[in-house]
Amino acid sequence: METVTAGGSSIAEVQALLRVLAAGHRRAGEIGTAFGKGGAAIAQGLPPGGTLVTVELDRTRAQVAREELAPFPNVRLIEGDWHELATYAPFDLLFVDVHEAKTDPAVLDLVERGGLVVIDDMTPDPPGLDPIREFWLRNPCVAGTEVLTTPDMGAILATRLS
Ligand SMILES: C[S@@+](CC[C@H](N)C(=O)[O-])C[C@H]1O[C@@H](n2cnc3c(N)ncnc32)[C@H](O)[C@@H]1O
Repeated sequence: METVTAGGSSIAEVQALLRVLAAGHRRAGEIGTAFGKGGAAIAQGLPPGGTLVTVELDRTRAQVAREELAPFPNVRLIEGDWHELATYAPFDLLFVDVHEAKTDPAVLDLVERGGLVVIDDMTPDPPGLDPIREFWLRNPCVAGTEVLTTPDMGAILATRLS
């Protein structure tokens, strides 16, 4: 099951994971900027020349995030719906952090083949296979696995195969 965190910032452990993963990528995207904390972690991890495009629907949050991300000239913050990321696709790293997007097949169209998708806020050991795990771990177009970010929270890492 996914723990929906009322749209707050990602936890420090996830931000550390994003920073590590970003180091091997050049065109990153983020669905759901919130206050810019996860985006800042990605921006810090990207290699020289790497870029991040991040999108936030809520105007107030986007304004806060704009200040948080101001030190990173390689970050573009879009204020709007996540589908607008299609203009900037494909990405080789995509952090999907809006609940509805986590099971939307349109997300895969934003990622190049071989690109990596990150989904956080997963609660380990659910009673059954939930829709998010069903989509990312049982999808023939994707190689997915799950890692713990804390003793009781996890993240899905999934590579687009086709
Ligand atoms: C869990 S928070 C994102 C946390 C952020 N990624 C981080 O690492 O700190 C989810 C955010 O997605 C935004 N959101 C919700 N629906 C959206 C949509 N359709 N398009 C873009 N952003 C959306 C919410 O306003 C909220 O700020």
